[in-house]
Amino acid sequence: MERKITVDREKCVHCGLCVADCPMYCLEFGGEQTPQYQDGAEGLCIACQHCMAVCPEGALSFGGLNPADSLPTAYGNSDALLRLIQSRRSMRHFKDEGIPSEILAKIQAMLPFTPTASNANGLHFSIVRSRGKMEAIRRATYGTGALFGEVNSPGLRRYREKIASGEDIIYRGAPVMIAVASEKERTVPPCHGVVDAAISLTLVDLYAQSLGLGAVWCGLALHAALQIPEVLALLEIPEEYALCYTMLLGVPAVRYPRTVQPEPFRVKIL
Ligand SMILES: Cc1cc2nc3c(=O)[nH]c(=O)nc-3n(C[C@H](O)[C@H](O)[C@H](O)COP(=O)(O)O)c2cc1C
Repeated sequence: MERKITVDREKCVHCGLCVADCPMYCLEFGGEQTPQYQDGAEGLCIACQHCMAVCPEGALSFGGLNPADSLPTAYGNSDALLRLIQSRRSMRHFKDEGIPSEILAKIQAMLPFTPTASNANGLHFSIVRSRGKMEAIRRATYGTGALFGEVNSPGLRRYREKIASGEDIIYRGAPVMIAVASEKERTVPPCHGVVDAAISLTLVDLYAQSLGLGAVWCGLALHAALQIPEVLALLEIPEEYALCYTMLLGVPAVRYPRTVQPEPFRVKIL
């Protein structure tokens, strides 16, 4: 997005919130007490749009965007959000039907709102929704017999037996898979791209479950894609991105009437 700030002078009340809220300290008050980039600071701007979002008067436009087109902010109901977090479960039983297009479109429209380090937005989402493509991924995964070949733990032996008996233990019959990839250079330490990818799927999981879908993180599908080049190729991830994680989605075939009662994490209050 173009690094360009325009200010409606009629509306600007010179409160300074835009200048103070810039995470990169790029802005200053110019001659007419209107905000502007400091000399040459456009290059430091991460295009987070905080200057536009924070302006109480809607006087500042970033990159030619109209502040009036932004959504009014809303922070929802904390009790409802907590109950959603407590109620979400990994879904491993899906109905044999697709996800309605309008529901999938809602999830897709949510994606750009997930935070990324330095606002890099360097993620790519492969959303596999075609039945034929999911079948091709299943065939490529189970057809080779390569999966878990070299590992001999009791758990993985059990997986191998299940696969041999024709069970879809990886994709669980899900109609949709989301594979999130990050720009390759952002996957090396400090691995911001991988963290960004995990955050995005965390939000997909919650939002999908609030929409009545079932979702499950799928490390096994990630393993399949990383082990079997044909599976990875089917995800059509652009060359400059590296696959980070996968999530399965679908219409749930079971319902959880109650939450689990998880053991607490270790926490030290300092
Ligand atoms: C990073 C990650 C990878 C996972 N991979 C798989 C997987 O490959 N297959 C699976 O059935 N569940 C997978 N899960 C689901 C976990 O087993 C599940 O989150 C955990 O048992 C807690 O259950 P809950 O999600 O219902 O609370 C994964 C979860 C996470 C967070």
